[in-house]
Amino acid sequence: MQRLENRVAIITGGAQGIGAAYARSFAAEGAKVVIADVAPADALVDEITTAGGTAIATRTDVTDEAACAAMATQTIAAFGRIDILVNNAALWVHVGQKPIMEISKAEWDKVLDVNINGMFLCTKAVVPQMTTQSYGKIINISSGRALKGFTNLLHYDTSKGAVISFTRSVARELGDAGIRANTIAPGGIMTDNVIEQDELRGMIAMGTATRAIKREQVPEDVVGACIFLASEESDFITGQVLAVDGGSAMN
Ligand SMILES: NC(=O)c1ccc[n+]([C@@H]2O[C@H](COP(=O)([O-])OP(=O)(O)OC[C@H]3O[C@@H](n4cnc5c(N)ncnc54)[C@H](O)[C@@H]3O)[C@@H](O)[C@H]2O)c1
Repeated sequence: MQRLENRVAIITGGAQGIGAAYARSFAAEGAKVVIADVAPADALVDEITTAGGTAIATRTDVTDEAACAAMATQTIAAFGRIDILVNNAALWVHVGQKPIMEISKAEWDKVLDVNINGMFLCTKAVVPQMTTQSYGKIINISSGRALKGFTNLLHYDTSKGAVISFTRSVARELGDAGIRANTIAPGGIMTDNVIEQDELRGMIAMGTATRAIKREQVPEDVVGACIFLASEESDFITGQVLAVDGGSAMN
């Protein structure tokens, strides 16, 4: 039996990067996957389908409440239920590292809008269906940066701290409805988007030395934790933060 057999999973920001790795691995574990992204995901859907999995894509801007509601409606229409939501969509790769005095209010608002409001709106969109089922798993993606403190991405780091608080309170509020919520805090990962940018690549490469396991982290390093938190194996775990970073942050 596959670990996510008969489960229906929405992965926001799943068109590329780490989200695409979650989408591939969830489908390989038997989940029906909905990739919700502002970017096109047709090629990834084809790849998953060709490999024998089940996936659809829905163009969703997570900051748009109506679009998030439509994402949930489309998922239920296609697959009949929603078991798993991975709130993975975020702005960070193209945000640009800069000190506090150079971050404009508009830049601050934009990052918090996607990274915090997007998580709130997507969660709100799936809670009614998960409540009807008396079962749901919400996995919110934070960052090791939120656990350790960092420089030059204050808006991003603030948003990733909010992910942890949001998850804890959602876990308390929705536990009686059978909904579990947990956070994954990945370390710096060499995705294709990161590799393209000298500044980010350098910053992430430096993180290697802070780890107990001193090698570069790749998207596939995080998928095991995400599958675990999405599966029934973790049904008695909620409100937690799981750092997946080769032992850089130790709580
Ligand atoms: N790569 C890393 O080093 C790293 C480390 C820790 C945490 N994370 C977190 O992991 C997640 C994925 O990171 P990544 O490196 O793959 O990022 P990425 O930029 O490669 O991918 C993010 C995805 O989110 C989508 N997205 C952006 N705005 C959106 C919106 N408004 N609505 C819907 N989709 C939107 C993008 O189109 C993209 O497909 C993020 O939450 C990020 O903060 C990444």
